[in-house]
Amino acid sequence: VGHIDDVQELKKNKPTSIPERFVRDMIERPKLGTVTTPSSCNLNIPVVDLSKIMNSQDEIMKLSTSCEEWGFFQVINHGIDLDLLEKMEKIAMEFFMLPLEEKQKYPMAPGTVQGYGQAFVFSEDQKLDWCNMFALGVEPHFIRNPKLWPTKPLDFSETVDIYSREIRKLCKNLLKYIAISLELNEDIFEEMFGLAVQAVRINYYPECPRPDLVLGLSPHSDGSALTVLQQGKGSSVGLQILKDNVWVPVQPIPNALVINIGDTIEVLTNGRYKSVEHRAVTHQEKDRLSIVTFYAPSYEIELGPLPELVDENNPCKYKRYNHGDYSMHYVTNKLQGKKTLEFAKIYNN
Ligand code: SIN
Ligand code: FE2
Repeated sequence: VGHIDDVQELKKNKPTSIPERFVRDMIERPKLGTVTTPSSCNLNIPVVDLSKIMNSQDEIMKLSTSCEEWGFFQVINHGIDLDLLEKMEKIAMEFFMLPLEEKQKYPMAPGTVQGYGQAFVFSEDQKLDWCNMFALGVEPHFIRNPKLWPTKPLDFSETVDIYSREIRKLCKNLLKYIAISLELNEDIFEEMFGLAVQAVRINYYPECPRPDLVLGLSPHSDGSALTVLQQGKGSSVGLQILKDNVWVPVQPIPNALVINIGDTIEVLTNGRYKSVEHRAVTHQEKDRLSIVTFYAPSYEIELGPLPELVDENNPCKYKRYNHGDYSMHYVTNKLQGKKTLEFAKIYNN
C-alpha cells in the first residue's frame, strides 16, 4: 500500500470525493440507514455474564443459544483489568497517530498478515477497505517477527505482550464454557488445539466523507476458533453482523468485549455453532478503533467435525483437513463472506 492508499493520509487532504479504488460496486454498498429498520433496530447480540457462568445453567444456555443463532455475543465481567484494556487502547491509538514514515517501518509483506498496511489485497482491481491495519503474530513465540514489533510508542510491545496473555486466558476459559455448553469434556478444545496460535490486529477506521459508498472492512467470517474484539471508547458503531440476511449493528457496551465464533468451531461442531459473516462500516464524523485477537489451533492440527456431534440427523458437513493448510488458504484469498469455509465443505449430502 503506497502513500496514496493510506486512509489516514487520504483523510488529511480533506477529500470531497472518494478515490475510485474505495468506491464499492452498488451491491456491496452499506446502505446505511436501512439496516436499522423498525423490525431490526431492537435486535442486539446477546450478553453473557462471565461472573455467573460457572454457577448458572441459564448463562450456559444463553451462551449456547448465542453461538447457535448469532455466532456472536458480548461478555461482561470478563475478569480482564479495565486499566489494561485502556492502556492497550491508548498505545494502539498512539501508534496510528505516528507519522506515516514511522508506521511504514513495519510494512505488511504481500500475502502476509503481519505489519502495517492492508491485508487480503491481491489484485489492482480489488476494492480497498476504508481502514488502516496493524497486525502481529503473538503466540507461539516462533511466529513473531521481531522486526515488526514497533519501538514507538515506547510501551507498545510490552503492553501487547501483557494484553495478549490476559486475552489468552480468557480464550481458554471461553473454550471451556463452550465445551460445557455442548455437553462435551470441558478440556476437549484445549487438548485438541496443541500450542494455540494467537494474533492481534488493530484496525483504525478514519471518518469518511461518504460512508454510503465504502466499507471499513469487507464481509468475512473469521478463520480462527474464537475472536475477541475490543472497541475503542468513543468510537462510532461500526461492526455489523449478517443475521437472517439483515446487517445488524453491534451496539458497544462500555468495558464489554465482543466474542465471535470462527470457522474452526463451526467445523468442529459440524455447523451447530456458527461462524457468522460480519463487516465494518465507517462514520462521517467519527473515527473508530478496534483491537482484535484471533485464537486458533496449532498449525499441525488435523480438524473435522467432532464424532459426538455427528449422527443420522446431523450428517457430517465438513471434511477433515489440516489447520495450517486452512490458515494458508485463508490468508491468501480476499475476504469474501463465508467463501473460505467452502475449503472444508462436503457437498454431497
Ligand atoms: C474484524 O472483523 O476483524 C473487525 C471488525 C471490527 O472492526 O469491528
Ligand atoms: Fe472478523
